[in-house]
Amino acid sequence: MLLYIHIPFCDSKCFYCAFNSYVDLFHLKQEYMKALKIQLDLELKKLKNKPLKSIFFGGGTPSCIDFNYYSSIFKSLKPYIDKNTEISTEANPNSASNEWLEGMFDLGVNRVSFGVQSFDNEKLKFLGRNHNKDQAIKAINNAKKVGYKHINCDIIYDTIKDTKELIQNDLNIIKTLPIDHISAYSLTIEEGTKFFDKTNVKIEDEDMARYIFSTLNNFGFTQYEISNFSKNEKARSKHNFGYWEKDNYLGVGAGAVGCIDETRYYPNKDIQKYISDPLKYEQIEPLEKEDIKFETIFLGLRSAVGVDINILNNNELKKLQILKDEKKVYIKNHRFYNDDFMLADEIVLYLED
Ligand SMILES: C[S@@+](CC[C@H](N)C(=O)[O-])C[C@H]1O[C@@H](n2cnc3c(N)ncnc32)[C@H](O)[C@@H]1O
Ligand code: SF4
Repeated sequence: MLLYIHIPFCDSKCFYCAFNSYVDLFHLKQEYMKALKIQLDLELKKLKNKPLKSIFFGGGTPSCIDFNYYSSIFKSLKPYIDKNTEISTEANPNSASNEWLEGMFDLGVNRVSFGVQSFDNEKLKFLGRNHNKDQAIKAINNAKKVGYKHINCDIIYDTIKDTKELIQNDLNIIKTLPIDHISAYSLTIEEGTKFFDKTNVKIEDEDMARYIFSTLNNFGFTQYEISNFSKNEKARSKHNFGYWEKDNYLGVGAGAVGCIDETRYYPNKDIQKYISDPLKYEQIEPLEKEDIKFETIFLGLRSAVGVDINILNNNELKKLQILKDEKKVYIKNHRFYNDDFMLADEIVLYLED
C-alpha cells in the first residue's frame, strides 16, 4: 500500500500548473495540518497494521510548511513505517531551506524531489517560477549534505524557450549534481492556468525529447518510464512504480486521490470545506473493469512494469503476436514489454481498436 499526502499551498502560482494549491490562504496552514492528521488517522486503519511501501508528500509545496507542523503526522505514521518504507517529499528550491531539509530528514524523510524545471533564468521567469538557477543548485547540494540518499530533480521541456543549446546547458548542469533521479516532463497545457489558450508557449518536438532521453542515458540515468530516469534500480521511485503496478493507495488531504480495491475516492479539494470535515469525501468512484484493464496496459507500456498477458482476450492476443513479429513489444515470463515508451499510446490504441 502507498500513501499520498497533499499539501495545497504554494508561495506563488506557476503559469503552467493546475495542481490543487492556494497562494492566499496561508493563515489556514495550521488548521489544515490538524485536519490532515484527523483524516490520516482514519485512513491508516485501512492498513490493518501492515507497513506502508511508500509515503509521498506532494503538492502544492510541502516545503512552504514549517517542518514542525509535520511532527504530529509522523507520530501517526510511525507504526506503519519500516526500514523499507520510501518517504518522499516534494520541495521548491526557494523554500527548502537547510533548516527545513534537516527537519524533514530528522523526521524520517529519505527522498526529496525538487521542482527545478530548468536552470535557465529566462525560462524560469517564462514559466512563472519564483527561484533562480543558483538557488536550485544550492538547495540540491544542501540536501546531499544533510544526508538524503535519494534526490530527484523535475524538469519541463517542450516549451517555446527550448533551444538545443538551452537544453544542453540544463543537462550539463544536471550531470554535475548529486542526484540519482530525474523526472523530465513534456509541458502540458492545462485548463485554468495562465498558459491556457496562449499561443507561443508549447512546442511538440519529438527529436528534442529523444535527444533528452539519450543524453540522460549517456549520463547514466536509465529511463524506466516515459518521464522518469534513475541512476540504478534502487533509485527508482517506489511510489511512482507502485502507481504503475496498480497498487492500492491512500489519499490524504485536499486535492489528494486514493484508490482501494478498484474504487477511487476524492477528499474535498476546497481547503475550507476540507478543514471543516476532513472525513467527508467529495466523490467515490467505482472503476469500470474495462477502464482498469486499459489503464493497466497503458501504464505498463509507458514503463518498465510491462503487462500480464493473461489480461488480454483472444482478439487482443492475435494483435499482440503481430506487435511481437514487428518487434514493437517483447515477451518475458508471461508479460509483454515495450522498449520505446514514446510508442505506448500507439500500441494501446491498436490493441483497443
Ligand atoms: C506538484 S509539482 C511540484 C512540486 C513543487 N511544488 C515545485 O513546483 O517545485 C510536480 C511537478 O509536476 C510538473 N508539472 C506540473 N505541471 C505541469 C505541466 N502543466 N506540464 C508539465 N509538467 C508539469 C513539474 O515538473 C513539477 O515539478
Ligand atoms: S509547479 Fe509546484 S510551485 Fe508551481 S504552482 Fe504547481 S505545485 Fe505550486
